[in-house]
This record gives sequence, structure tokens and C-alpha cells, in this order.
Amino acid sequence: MQIIIINGPTLNLLGKREPEIYGSQTFEDYLNQLRLKFPEVKLDYFQSNIEGEIIDKIQETGFSYDGIILNAAAYTHTSIGIGDVVKAITTPVIEVHISNTFSREEFRHQSYISPNAKGVILGFGLQSYDLALQSFL
Ligand code: DQA
Repeated sequence: MQIIIINGPTLNLLGKREPEIYGSQTFEDYLNQLRLKFPEVKLDYFQSNIEGEIIDKIQETGFSYDGIILNAAAYTHTSIGIGDVVKAITTPVIEVHISNTFSREEFRHQSYISPNAKGVILGFGLQSYDLALQSFL
């Protein structure tokens, strides 16, 4: 089983970015834990702060991988382009968020990804990625 986690803008700063919301663990550290927990999964990882690079990666993996776990971060709430590419591909996409976006500012309640995602997991901290991974197994 081949899965990719795609993280959007400023998720490269996890560990030092607003730790009261996003926790104090780096994503690289968490990813190592996930890979140890799910040795049967070929788990790839991509992070970019650039919308077009995220779209390119979704196109590149979206017809051959078994699943995409997508945290498009702020682009979730703004990007029709990412919403369109999620609709265009055949690989199922699970949308994840670390925080509960519905308990935060109103602009975070809108998602251009959710209508075309297989499911949405949010508000469980980094464990949201683990739950998304389990949903593919
Ligand atoms: C986020 C929530 C978004 O609203 C925010 O812009 C992020 C992270 C989350 O994982 O909780 O950057 O996607």
C-alpha cells in the first residue's frame, strides 16, 4: 500500500508554530513514529508552501497511489485550484487538520477540499494523520 501525506504552508514549522494550537512535536519526528507504527505502508511525505507545487504533487500521485492524506493548511480555505485537482484525480483523498477548524475563526469553516474528499478528520492533533492512515487500511 502506497500512501502520501501532503502538507501545505507553514506546516514545516510544526514544533515551534503556535504550540498551544499545533503542539510541540516536529512533523519529521511524528512521521518517524507513523512509519514505525505502520511498517506495511510505503509512506511518502511532501510539504510545500507553494500552491502550484501542491497541485503538481497531487497530479503526480493522484492516479497511482492508494491514498493521499492532505492537509492543505490555509489553502484549504482559499484554493479553488486544489479543490479542482482533488476532484480530477482517482486516488481517494482524506482531508486532515490538526486543529478543530470549526472551533476557530469563521474563515476556517470553509473548505474547497471537503466536497471532493473521501472523508475529513480534524481536531485530534497530529493523531488526525494516524486516524486517516488507519482509514485506508
Ligand atoms: C490547519 C488549519 C488551517 O486553518 C490553518 O491555516 C493551518 C493548519 C490545521 O491543521 O489545523 O495552517 O490546516
